[in-house]
Amino acid sequence: MRPIEACIRPARGAAPSHSGIFGFQTVPDMIEARNLHKVFGAFHAVRGVTLDVAPGEVIALLGPNGAGKTTTVRMLGAILRPSDGYARVAGYDVVEQAREVRRVVGLLTEFPGLYLRMRPQEYLCFFGALQGMSASDSARRAEQLLRQFGLWEARDKRLDSFSKGMKQKIALMRALIHDPPVLYLDEPTTAMDPHSARQVRDAMLELRAAKRTILLTTHNLTEAEELADRIVIIRNGSIVAEGTFAQLTRQFLGAPRWELRLGAPAQRAAAVIDGLVQIERIDGESMYYYTDDARRVNPQIIARMANAGIPVVALNELPRRLEDVYLEIVAGNGRTDAATLAEQPARRDGAPVTGEVVTLKVEG
Ligand SMILES: Nc1ncnc2c1ncn2[C@@H]1O[C@H](COP(=O)(O)OP(=O)(O)OP(=O)(O)O)[C@@H](O)[C@H]1O
Ligand SMILES: [Mg+2]
Repeated sequence: MRPIEACIRPARGAAPSHSGIFGFQTVPDMIEARNLHKVFGAFHAVRGVTLDVAPGEVIALLGPNGAGKTTTVRMLGAILRPSDGYARVAGYDVVEQAREVRRVVGLLTEFPGLYLRMRPQEYLCFFGALQGMSASDSARRAEQLLRQFGLWEARDKRLDSFSKGMKQKIALMRALIHDPPVLYLDEPTTAMDPHSARQVRDAMLELRAAKRTILLTTHNLTEAEELADRIVIIRNGSIVAEGTFAQLTRQFLGAPRWELRLGAPAQRAAAVIDGLVQIERIDGESMYYYTDDARRVNPQIIARMANAGIPVVALNELPRRLEDVYLEIVAGNGRTDAATLAEQPARRDGAPVTGEVVTLKVEG
């Protein structure tokens, strides 16, 4: 539940509630995972993942190879049964209402199995039918998707003649065929050429504008930065950081960094602004410093330089990339060690875990 709107939590397994007490509208989270675990034999792949995703929110799930991203996505897609904890998608429990979950979710898996003897439209219509669509609706939708992703000209070819990237597009169309409210896209652009990857990212932007809820797994951090409202970083099966790009940047990289370029050696300028900012380094005629309070500090710096007769050529805030934040968190590039991360209040406490025994057809 979103903190402000939290008032009614549907009973586990119940259909979602959209109206609260006293007629207030409540908006339940589209994805609500509590303390999810997955154990494969003796290996603990996912360790207590708790996650809330609001309707229309785009989340990028990042983390190193083997961190547990795909396993988490598969549990949230009712493909894999959690060993412990629970999750609801659009109010449906991923174990007790797996069929409903699969209906509301469009899932692009990491290694999609395609029926290679089929042709694109036939394949997409087959999955449309599985999702309960009429033949005419799925044919129309398949044509629209094939045109959107530039595969309409290849509609008469068999899928086994498709390239890796073309197959990945077909798998994405399969996830989109029934226009689901929730999408799990597990590395949707990995095999694609730059133009195709752009098409897919544009499609994701359109889906975001259409208020679809998207859980995107990717190793392309520029893609995550462009598309995601919120970033979730998972390592060794646990969420170690969560927030908007701005929040994570502030939390892990500290105050914004500035570059002051002067028309004279910067060494002299350091004494002039002593005590005003934290100087990172001096490099010839440039000086780099951190400040959280640029509105107050930067005009003072410029005034002091003018008083000292040191010409200011340029003053720029240095852009920070998600890659820097990610490496700080995952590779501990300096300030952030594993112990610090373990103590971060990165995720909310999970609700109590039920110990019930359930049966579900489990893939793999
Ligand atoms: N069916 C399985 N049986 C045993 N171990 C598994 C199974 N599926 C996943 N694992 C293990 O769980 C861990 C997490 O795997 P997962 O596929 O979730 O990682 P990931 O974060 O998606 O990694 P990548 O970035 O490489 O896709 C890995 O160590 C993997 O070997
Ligand atoms: Mg994966």
